[in-house]
Amino acid sequence: MKLAGIDFGKRLILAPMAEITDGAFRKISKKFGCGLTFTQMVSAEGILNNNFNTLRYLAFSQDEKPIGVQILGNDPAILSAAVRELTRFKPDVIDLNSGCPVARVAGKQMGASLMEQPELLAKLVSSMVKAAGNIPVSVKFRLGRDAKNISIIESAKIAEDNGASFITVHFRTMESPYEEEPDFKWLDRIKEKVSIPIVVNGSIFSVNDALRLKEKLNADGLMIARGALGNPFIFKRFNKIIDGEDDPGKPSAEEISRTLFEHLNLLKDEFGEFNALDKAKKHAVWYWMRSDGAGELLKKIFSAKDWKALTGILTKHAEKTAKNQFPREDIDLIQKKFRKKILFWLLD
Ligand SMILES: Cc1cc2nc3c(=O)[nH]c(=O)nc-3n(C[C@H](O)[C@H](O)[C@H](O)COP(=O)(O)O)c2cc1C
Repeated sequence: MKLAGIDFGKRLILAPMAEITDGAFRKISKKFGCGLTFTQMVSAEGILNNNFNTLRYLAFSQDEKPIGVQILGNDPAILSAAVRELTRFKPDVIDLNSGCPVARVAGKQMGASLMEQPELLAKLVSSMVKAAGNIPVSVKFRLGRDAKNISIIESAKIAEDNGASFITVHFRTMESPYEEEPDFKWLDRIKEKVSIPIVVNGSIFSVNDALRLKEKLNADGLMIARGALGNPFIFKRFNKIIDGEDDPGKPSAEEISRTLFEHLNLLKDEFGEFNALDKAKKHAVWYWMRSDGAGELLKKIFSAKDWKALTGILTKHAEKTAKNQFPREDIDLIQKKFRKKILFWLLD
């Protein structure tokens, strides 16, 4: 299957996630068979100002391709200048964030609030398309503000009419909480009105979720966000099954541990040991939260003051898991908390 000329086969697409889909995360996802990854959202203004964090968030290496860069903004002149800068790095797609509902974005008339400003949305997409030359431009949307104000059909049409090559839809509204089920019935309604490809996003947490959506929906691609946290294995399992090979099943403790350490080393290379430490703890919890012992790990991991202490805790944890030495844990409850808030250990 191709999206705007990007051949990602039948593979899953990794969603942009702020503070998460850095180079380390994208490289591990690609190694396990993800078809296309995205940087987190970066500010168009930050690109023009050479802001250090903005440039770091969008930096990617050529072996990560195919890759999409997602930008955030609401000024056609700034967005088109930022896109022109980006074309020098030759990403495979440049995406406009038109779905972020958080106050510091939507409250500043960016992200999802663009769906309520049709004329501005049209100008932004057309100016990006002009500036991008032969690099495809896509737009990532939600359904609209709330159940009574669904504007996705109008927004999708604007994207298409102004030259977007495809759109991604997160099938929740701005107001829907994350634990609410996405409303996929809108897909066919959008498809009746637009003919550019539509990537479907929302609540793929398991291989079965992905297979079910693939079967049930007329989607041109499936995008996964939270379900890939600590779980690059989902890409490999999905690919094997759709290629008609044996399902390798859930990863062993040894495979989880090996992959986690590979991920942590990539984080250390990217951010340095000191800055990577808190990120590493977050990812370690996600890698182990689907196995018994997750509660124990949570109690211990925040005591790690440096990299050596952290890796010591994680090595012991992997050994105990491999030997089945942890008591049974309510994994469903942990998963429920995770869906409500990915940093669920900070819930009160
Ligand atoms: C921590 C976090 C950060 C996110 N950051 C972004 C972002 O930078 N850009 C964006 O378009 N969506 C962002 N999203 C939304 C996801 O890309 C995705 O649309 C959403 O999580 C629904 O997919 P899921 O149900 O598979 O998690 C973020 C989501 C999470 C949980």
